[in-house]
Formats: sequence, structure tokens, C-alpha cells
Amino acid sequence: MTLNIDEQPPAHANENEGNDYKDQSRKYHENVNAAYVLPEDEMENDRLYMQHYALKLAFGANFDSPIEEELEQGITVLDSGCGPGTWTLDMAQQYPQSKFYGLDISSVFPTEIKPSNTEFQLHNITEPAPFPENTFDYVHQRLLVMGLRNEEWKKVISNYLQVLKSNGYFEFTECTTDLVNGGPKMTLLMDCMKTIATMKDLHIEVYRDFASYFEEAGAINVRSRQLIAPFNHTNKVGELLWKDYCMMFTALKPIVAKTHPELASEEAYAKFMEETGEECKEYKTHLIFSRCYGQKP
Ligand SMILES: C[S@@+](CC[C@H](N)C(=O)[O-])C[C@H]1O[C@@H](n2cnc3c(N)ncnc32)[C@H](O)[C@@H]1O
Repeated sequence: MTLNIDEQPPAHANENEGNDYKDQSRKYHENVNAAYVLPEDEMENDRLYMQHYALKLAFGANFDSPIEEELEQGITVLDSGCGPGTWTLDMAQQYPQSKFYGLDISSVFPTEIKPSNTEFQLHNITEPAPFPENTFDYVHQRLLVMGLRNEEWKKVISNYLQVLKSNGYFEFTECTTDLVNGGPKMTLLMDCMKTIATMKDLHIEVYRDFASYFEEAGAINVRSRQLIAPFNHTNKVGELLWKDYCMMFTALKPIVAKTHPELASEEAYAKFMEETGEECKEYKTHLIFSRCYGQKP
């Protein structure tokens, strides 16, 4: 049998996708061209809402780019991989004169009930952005590290530069797998994240390359900062981040259990997570997050 050109299997469809990371009780996106490994369901939306406020509190702001005045006066903003739109909606409320567009492969964003200065659209961000050139003053992207393959990051940056206006800013915020004072249990969980990243060809340490990727793409005024956040101790950020990561590691249980079969039962896993929480308090473990922005000349 021969295939017509239109019937060719999509890129990546034939590779060993390794679906072992999926929890059968959760729902996942169906875009065969996207590598993203976390679920798309109510439970995941709840986690992302909580995570948004944890990160806002930890970083002290929703963004670092020097665009506060412009946002107040009214600019056009793209939130790439917006998820349920928590950042987009928060920003839209704070800056009613500006217009916010969100893109995601999952339609978990609001479609009917939403502020009039927001629009959301299904889109794979590894493909050219569905907007004319020079549309946006600011492009924001947060927490795509579990979604973009190694070779896709530069493509995504170049897609944004197409739709960004001259002098416009683009900004990435990412989590890392680096720990400060990580104990053995927390290190085991982070190692599992690295395993899944290798399996799916994700660039888990991409934050280290942001500044060079931005500069290679022609950006000027590139600035980065790292945030060292408490994990299950010290303050509200520590408490929220722990809850957030607990939910994420629960979603990743199948892969943890595959490499550590002794954690396969619900009871063993719950006990392990509880012990990990205590270990983080005892070791004063911190997580590292990274933010980088640049300007289109
Ligand atoms: C961890 S969530 C972060 C959501 C949001 N940026 C935030 O910070 O709350 C990652 C989001 O990226 C989306 N995503 C992953 N790969 C994508 C792709 N190739 N194109 C568009 N969205 C993608 C996922 O569906 C998910 O909603």
C-alpha cells in the first residue's frame, strides 16, 4: 500500500514516543507533534493556578522586562503555551488597556467567560505563530521545559521574533532540576524528571542556554536572573511550591515507579512523598528558577 502525501504520518509519529509516563487515570493532549508530558485536566489546571501565584510571589512580579509603563498605556501581548491562562488573565486584569493573546495545544484556556481584552487559540508553538509579522510588543513564555524538544527551542524563538515588533521584548521563565541542599529523596525525584526528559528528547537544562539562544537570534539587552526558592519551609512560597511539585510528581508516578518499582503502590508512593517533604524541611532544600528576557532590535 502507498500513502498519498496528505496521508504521511506526522513528524515524530513513528518514533518510540515512550508513553510509559502516562497515568491511565489522567487525560493528556492528543497532538502527536507535541512532546509535552504532563496531563491536561482539572487537577492539572488546579496545580497550574497554584503554581502561578507561587511564582508571582517568589519572583515578586509577573515579568522582568521593562514594559510596565507600556502595559499601562496599552500594548499587545502574546502568552505562549498559556495553559489555563492564569498568567494571561491575571495580567489582563492588571493592565486593562493592553490586549492579551494566549496559545496552547490544549483547549484548557477559557473560551466563553473571559475578560474582553483576552483571546485564546489552539496552536502548536513549534509552528509559525498564527499572527501577522510585527503584531506584538511583548511575548511571554513560562514553563515549557517539559514540552519542547532540544531542536525546537531555537525554532520557537525565531517564530516569536517574526511576530514581535521592533523594540518589543520576549521573556522566558523556567524551572530547573538544580537543587540547593537537595537530599537523596528529592534528588531521586529530580533524576526521574531528567530520565523522562532524555526519553522524550526534552532540553531539561535549557535555561542555561537562554541568553546565548536569545543573542544568537539577534536579541539585544538580554538579561537573566535566577531565583532560589525555599521548598516546603520558611514561607508561603515554600509551602505552595511543595504542594505544586507534589502534584506534579504524582502525575509522574508511572515513570518514577518504572525506575523505582518499590514505589509502585499508592501507599508506598504516598509515604515516599511525605518523607520527601520532611527531608526538604530538614535539609532546607531550595529550587532554582530562571528568567531571561531580550529585546528585538
Ligand atoms: C507547565 S504548563 C505552563 C502553563 C502556563 N505557561 C503557566 O505558566 O501557567 C505548560 C503548557 O504548555 C503547553 N504546551 C506544551 N507544548 C506545547 C506546544 N508545542 N505548543 C503549545 N503549547 C504547548 C501545555 O499544553 C501546557 O498547557
